[in-house]
Amino acid sequence: MTLLRISDLKTQFPTPDGIVRAVDTIDLSIRERETLGLIGETGCGKTVLGLTIMRLLQSSTKTEGTIIYKGTNLLKITEAEMRMIRGEEIAMILQNPTTSLNPVMRVGGQIAEAIRLHQGLSKRAAKEKAIEMLDAVRIPSPSERANEYPHEFSGGMKQRVMIAIGLACNPSLIIADEPTKGLDVTIKSQIIKLLKEVTKEKAMLLITHDLGVARALCDRIALMYAGELVEYATTGEIFEDPLHPYTRGFLGSLPSNGLVPIPGMSPSLINLPDGCRFHPRCGHATELCRRKHPDMIEIENGHFVRCFHA
Ligand SMILES: Nc1ncnc2c1ncn2[C@@H]1O[C@H](COP(=O)(O)OP(=O)(O)OP(=O)(O)O)[C@@H](O)[C@H]1O
Ligand SMILES: [Mg+2]
Repeated sequence: MTLLRISDLKTQFPTPDGIVRAVDTIDLSIRERETLGLIGETGCGKTVLGLTIMRLLQSSTKTEGTIIYKGTNLLKITEAEMRMIRGEEIAMILQNPTTSLNPVMRVGGQIAEAIRLHQGLSKRAAKEKAIEMLDAVRIPSPSERANEYPHEFSGGMKQRVMIAIGLACNPSLIIADEPTKGLDVTIKSQIIKLLKEVTKEKAMLLITHDLGVARALCDRIALMYAGELVEYATTGEIFEDPLHPYTRGFLGSLPSNGLVPIPGMSPSLINLPDGCRFHPRCGHATELCRRKHPDMIEIENGHFVRCFHA
């Protein structure tokens, strides 16, 4: 069953330098209990896609298309209705725990506040629930740690707190933005294990640069480049039979494959190249690629790619 279906989604920021086309004609769906990985280089629009789903972007942002969640177009409902969705249905674990947590508020209080905001529990019940949540994300001595401030927590523990806040309202869909960024290997694998456990019954959109993390957690993976999706398949197919030159380049830049970076830089989202957006960096580009923008095509059942030469 499809839980979330995004069609023709565009998110644009008008700026003095021009329009930033951060999300450009994205089609994507997430099934119940599925983990979908969203992968791409820095600045390609991953976080903006997450924030667009949550409707957390500033009001000058232009959004087009549809985001159907359990039959409702999230782009058409009122802010009050959207607040209910954020409280009960979809939660986003934000990219940077250090700036997302309030430094002058006790950790337990922050989780309790998130719970109270959405569930209307008493102060005391929310505090108890917050301690339960800290326990659920495996923070030792949760009732004591709940009284501490964020700076008393390590990076991995702060990330656990972010996960606890995300889970507090028992959402059906979690958008996790770089939940393992900046963590050392051991802590990273603990967070992966935790995410795997706590999202077993939930759907998750996992945003990451890290293909290793995606491989460990995702059922399907979507590769994003310069605001659009370029390949979309099961995790097995992405790793065993990547079709887009960008995907292959990304896999080649894995430490296990010799860390060969993709040459060049991603284009500015204000001035996108004609034709295929990846052509300036692609070893296989032809005249056609320079001229014409490729559509996403389904090469095999469920394996989509945006390349003339796949
Ligand atoms: N509020 C905004 N106004 C103008 N441009 C923005 C705004 N927010 C994001 N952008 C631009 O949109 C593009 C996509 O940003 P986004 O944060 O989604 O990238 P990302 O893929 O999440 O990168 P990273 O991997 O570094 O987190 C970037 O070029 C960014 O500068
Ligand atoms: Mg981001």
